[in-house]
Amino acid sequence: MESVTIPQLINPVIEKFYRKCQDDFLIGYYFQRQLHFFDQILPQLKIFWLCDLEKQLGFAISLSTKQFNLNQAHQNLKLKRGEIGRWAVLFLETLNEEKARLPHSLVIAWEKRIVFYRNLFWKKFSSAK
Ligand code: HEM
Repeated sequence: MESVTIPQLINPVIEKFYRKCQDDFLIGYYFQRQLHFFDQILPQLKIFWLCDLEKQLGFAISLSTKQFNLNQAHQNLKLKRGEIGRWAVLFLETLNEEKARLPHSLVIAWEKRIVFYRNLFWKKFSSAK
């Protein structure tokens, strides 16, 4: 039997999540105005989550040299508290829809990280209700 890699497991979830984000009534405008989001930023987000989840699961980090600057990417967006909450709701919803084909340990680790980043963004980036 062929072994499945982590990118093969997580990339479809990330793609589905950002398609939802783009169509969303509340946060869609951030993604619609970024014309290169899907061809330039989405590949970065896949690397980000691969590094993050490999670390959580205790695997060797295959792409760990890449540094992400969350400040730089988000400080000018002036995200509102409710928008950050919406990001987390959509992400958790997508993960829940896809969880049947994912290892349980991956789902649990990923849910925790989504909540962790939501809380971090609430502290660091939210500008208003
Ligand atoms: C409402 C919430 C959010 C919105 C609207 C949003 C929007 C965006 C946008 C527009 C970019 C592209 C920035 C650019 O032009 O380079 C971006 C990049 C990124 N976002 Fe978010 N974001 C949100 C929350 C988050 C959260 C909570 C995380 C934490 C996991 C995150 C992780 C990233 C990463 C890793 C990048 C790529 C940064 C890079 O290429 O260095 N975002 N986001």
